[in-house]
Amino acid sequence: MPIIGTPLSPSATRVMLLGSGELGKEVMIALQRLGVETIAVDRYDHAPGHQVAHHAHTIDMSDPEQLRALIESERPDIVVPEIEAIATATLESLEAQGLVRVIPTARAARLTMDREGIRRLAAETLGVPTSPYCFCESPDALRSAIDDGIGYPCIIKPVMSSSGKGQSKLNGPEDLQQAWDYAMAGGRVSHGRVIVEGFVDFDYEITLLTVRALDADGNAQTHFCEPIGHAQVAGDYVESWQPQAMNPEALRKAQHIAQAVTQDLGGLGVFGVEFFIRGEEVWFSEVSPRPHDTGLVTMISQWQSEFELHARAILGLPVSTALRAAGASAVIYGGVDAKDVVFEGVGDALGVPQTELRLFGKPESYVRRRMGVALAYDDTVDAARARAQRAASSIKIKPAASL
Ligand SMILES: Nc1ncnc2c1ncn2[C@@H]1O[C@H](COP(=O)(O)OP(=O)(O)O)[C@@H](O)[C@H]1O
Ligand SMILES: [Mg+2]
Repeated sequence: MPIIGTPLSPSATRVMLLGSGELGKEVMIALQRLGVETIAVDRYDHAPGHQVAHHAHTIDMSDPEQLRALIESERPDIVVPEIEAIATATLESLEAQGLVRVIPTARAARLTMDREGIRRLAAETLGVPTSPYCFCESPDALRSAIDDGIGYPCIIKPVMSSSGKGQSKLNGPEDLQQAWDYAMAGGRVSHGRVIVEGFVDFDYEITLLTVRALDADGNAQTHFCEPIGHAQVAGDYVESWQPQAMNPEALRKAQHIAQAVTQDLGGLGVFGVEFFIRGEEVWFSEVSPRPHDTGLVTMISQWQSEFELHARAILGLPVSTALRAAGASAVIYGGVDAKDVVFEGVGDALGVPQTELRLFGKPESYVRRRMGVALAYDDTVDAARARAQRAASSIKIKPAASL
């Protein structure tokens, strides 16, 4: 059984988060409750996780030299990637040298760093059903891929992006050039490469949080949370709820696929496995080898949130994925481009019974930046959603100067 030391002493169990946004912040809070010393890393100062960690660093995590130097100087026991844009080759070499343990594994971080590694693993190696797809490096290649089989409507996304950035739907050839230009501008690292996917006309989509954790004999076991339903606008999640009612056969298929994909990625921790569902049909979409944004709802709907599950699993501790109540989350967007904003209506939001808030403390707001989330529980998912939406819409974000 694992041993945990005393923070800020030579016996400390030290965990480094690579990425310290709202998800990393919650992982660090969960780790600290278990007496772990936390090291928060992000690319800008005063990131949400920086504000709750024992140590805070600001570096470019996609730069191999900076990443190696920081890990070698801090010497954490465990490194937990929270974002995709990381020099994963550096993690692989440090892991191979036995210098750190990467969660879930350095290989998983590499394969899920962009859309290509994980899509090829799932569809081509594991034979999991996905939308039809093709990777393209020019508008001409894109046109041929669509004409030769993918067809319209389809979706194009930069190979390296998240939260819908640079993603658009094409209804016909007239949309192609604009979609290409948008993808080139929206990719995180300008790769000049996109994935085009056939549009899946699903009934609903889910995140199946899947946890790999050790049992009492030290063997990795797979645990599933209740499925999370979510609504996306422009490729970004605006609302999620748990449990999503599902056809039992579709749920069985999704669990089977999630088990296969997470087992191949290996290691310990939470995975957010995304699926599109129509009737009994299931398409694998993508997987995050870490807590998932739509899983913020689990802070109110489960006894152990996805962040506590991640903390426990990576430390080799037992987990429970039991549901506590039907719950919902509603995203609070910045709505304004400004630094040092103020939040009005916090009292009104929390005046809605059975709700909670998380305000992430980001130093700068953008119109479409996620600044907080409202959480609610109730007897039914619909009632919880209504409460969460009421709470979220009570919050008004204003530039401090307008006071
Ligand atoms: N092939 C597709 N067919 C239909 N909808 C899609 C498809 N791909 C993506 N979407 C929609 O866009 C959202 C974001 O796409 P996703 O691939 O998950 O990107 P991200 O990595 O930015 O989350 C999905 O949750 C889904 O709502
Ligand atoms: Mg997604």
